[in-house]
Amino acid sequence: MKKRMLRDLEVSEIGMGCMGFSHGYGQVPEKAYSIRAIEKAHDFGCTLFDTAETYGREMFYPGHNEELVGKALAPFRKEVVLATKFHIGPEEGKGNTSLYDTIRGHLDASMKRLKTDYVDLYYLHRLNEQVALEEVADVMGRLIRQGLIRGWGMSQVSRDTLEKAHRITPVSAVQNLYSMVERDCEQDIFPFSMENRIGVVAFSPIASGFLSGKVTADTKFKGDDVRKFVPQLSKENLAANQPLLDILADYACRKSATNAQISLAWMCHKYPNVVPIPGSKNQERILENLGACKVELTDQEFASLEEALDACTIYGHRGHVESEQKTFSNNWTK
Ligand SMILES: NC(=O)c1ccc[n+]([C@@H]2O[C@H](COP(=O)([O-])OP(=O)(O)OC[C@H]3O[C@@H](n4cnc5c(N)ncnc54)[C@H](OP(=O)(O)O)[C@@H]3O)[C@@H](O)[C@H]2O)c1
Repeated sequence: MKKRMLRDLEVSEIGMGCMGFSHGYGQVPEKAYSIRAIEKAHDFGCTLFDTAETYGREMFYPGHNEELVGKALAPFRKEVVLATKFHIGPEEGKGNTSLYDTIRGHLDASMKRLKTDYVDLYYLHRLNEQVALEEVADVMGRLIRQGLIRGWGMSQVSRDTLEKAHRITPVSAVQNLYSMVERDCEQDIFPFSMENRIGVVAFSPIASGFLSGKVTADTKFKGDDVRKFVPQLSKENLAANQPLLDILADYACRKSATNAQISLAWMCHKYPNVVPIPGSKNQERILENLGACKVELTDQEFASLEEALDACTIYGHRGHVESEQKTFSNNWTK
């Protein structure tokens, strides 16, 4: 697979989100199946794997996903970029423990579960208003100098926050919600990150499955599946957003690809510093999504796709993602 840079970290053009093996999308597969899925993605050429200390919270226990990912990656750990995330809880940072020790505690616990002595990309999962971001950035610089992490990033932050943190310790990647139906990042995150050699790791790039066209009004979401609460996936909004799916289906047909592949190829064509991390629990779909790297849009095809997308109104938003700005796409109307 072609490679992209998240600052100094070289990764495959498309990465893999591992959350669904433990958390967020209902019933999970057997562990052995999930581990095999990760091996298959690696065999295909995927070198960016994304997890977080909290993945597992509802279905299992925090850390479930890191354990699984650590086990799967162990045979080829040095060949891949392993990304994980930490939270600074509301009570942390208030007592006598230094911020360094607090974050170091999270990192050590993650490394133990991940069976590794370094993390390639360590993200602050969400901002904690009790803790100064500048201090977090400073700690990250220290962890980099100690060789415990190779780079750092933040998730769901604004451009101003990114800039503030980047001034203290250069940021490798920002992981924000980005897809054809959630395009806020295009306003200022992409311009700033391109100017500053920061990668944009797009989470939920297939809009929680919506852009694949396989979610219908009859799809039932079970267990902890977050899609029960995604307004974009309500019956009314699925119907209202059908024109977008028709555009995707048209391109998919012309390019002998799938809708999901077109949605990923579109963002890869658009920005040289974006790396989508689609998530799937299904081995075939994982390979399908990674296969988007083989779908090349010509400049002409890309331009008419952009034009068609710009003319589309998007109904509903993803809703449940807490974000720094507490707002979602500018283009949602319901
Ligand atoms: N930083 C953050 O706050 C944050 C938040 C959410 C997620 N993430 C990370 O980003 C990764 C990706 O996010 P996501 O899982 O929401 O992304 P996504 O790929 O947009 O959505 C995943 C959902 O789409 C379905 N899907 C994926 N590919 C498909 C395909 N080709 N055809 C049909 N359905 C398909 C999956 O179902 P099946 O499993 O049935 O295929 C799953 O239900 C996560 O794994 C996690 O690592 C980060």
